Amino acid sequence: MMAEPHPLVRRYGTAAIAEAAAAIRAGRLVAIPTETVYGLAADAGDSAAVARIYAAKGRPSFNPLIVHVRDRAEAERLAVFDRAADALAAAFWPGPLTLVLPLRAGAPVASLVTAGLDTVAIRVPAHRAMRALIEAAGRPLAAPSANRSNGISPTRAAHVVASLGAAAELVIDDGPCAAGLESTIVAGATLLRPGPVTAEAIGRVLGRLVSGGGQPAGGTITAPGQLATHYAPAKPLRLGAGWAEPDEWLIGFDGVEGDDTLSVSGDLTEAAARLFDALHRADASDRARIAVAPLPATGIGEAIHDRLRRAATR
Ligand code: TXA
Ligand code: MG
Repeated sequence: MMAEPHPLVRRYGTAAIAEAAAAIRAGRLVAIPTETVYGLAADAGDSAAVARIYAAKGRPSFNPLIVHVRDRAEAERLAVFDRAADALAAAFWPGPLTLVLPLRAGAPVASLVTAGLDTVAIRVPAHRAMRALIEAAGRPLAAPSANRSNGISPTRAAHVVASLGAAAELVIDDGPCAAGLESTIVAGATLLRPGPVTAEAIGRVLGRLVSGGGQPAGGTITAPGQLATHYAPAKPLRLGAGWAEPDEWLIGFDGVEGDDTLSVSGDLTEAAARLFDALHRADASDRARIAVAPLPATGIGEAIHDRLRRAATR
């Protein structure tokens, strides 16, 4: 079953991290797993390295990138925290939450990372591989998802290789990502992108409801991830499908058994972790179209619906 290991792929371990850290310090790109999806990392302070990220992804414009830091103290060097940000960081870091905060004057972040904005998106990841790389490289890492622009985010090393080829110097393989959906992004009390940390959980910490749910919530803050077509597979996709037409690949859930089923027991967390892998397989199948069974929109189901809506909009 297993194909030959790809020459750019390294199994996670001390030697692989040392090699990856050396590449980062030399201004090159490394694909590395996080608890959400695989990221394409570069030294956040090196503008030439960050420019290489945009080139590798084929991003049409300079959308700002998320900066990954070791801990709250390092985040403090880059951004200014208010009480709400304090509370969210305390509750969810390390973990799949990204905070958009005012950029601190003199922060060691290339302006290409923030696309010239006066805010910066920051998170402290929980995954051992990303944490080890930040530590070994000794600097904050800018990292978008490790896929070509407008493709499906990678949740396995093989997805990265299929999407980016040799654009990353090295791909660290530490198995499939646990959450499987990109981090939740919050700016103030606005949810810019729903994700593994649910709107309910954020609302509990802030003591008020958050607005947004992935929709632009007015003002000038927008996340390019909100563009409707950000997460599209190559094939047409039909949502809420109870059955499949002959030319459709069915992604099932709960009572609806598919060619591939996200969770036989109707578990939304399991479904989130498997969603992008299922979309990759559906795209690679011999069927012309994709159908997806209905799923509840509660909890992390909100983020699943968000990604499916985008995948269906082409
Ligand atoms: O889970 C994740 O967040 C993954 C892993 C690798 O950490 N990264 C990821 O990055 O999904 P990317 O580049 O695919 O998505 C970053 C999102 C974009 O929608 C971007 O617009 C938004 O973050 N963003 C970054 N900086 C921002 C800022 N200053 N203001 C508003 N949105 C920002
Ligand atoms: Mg992305």
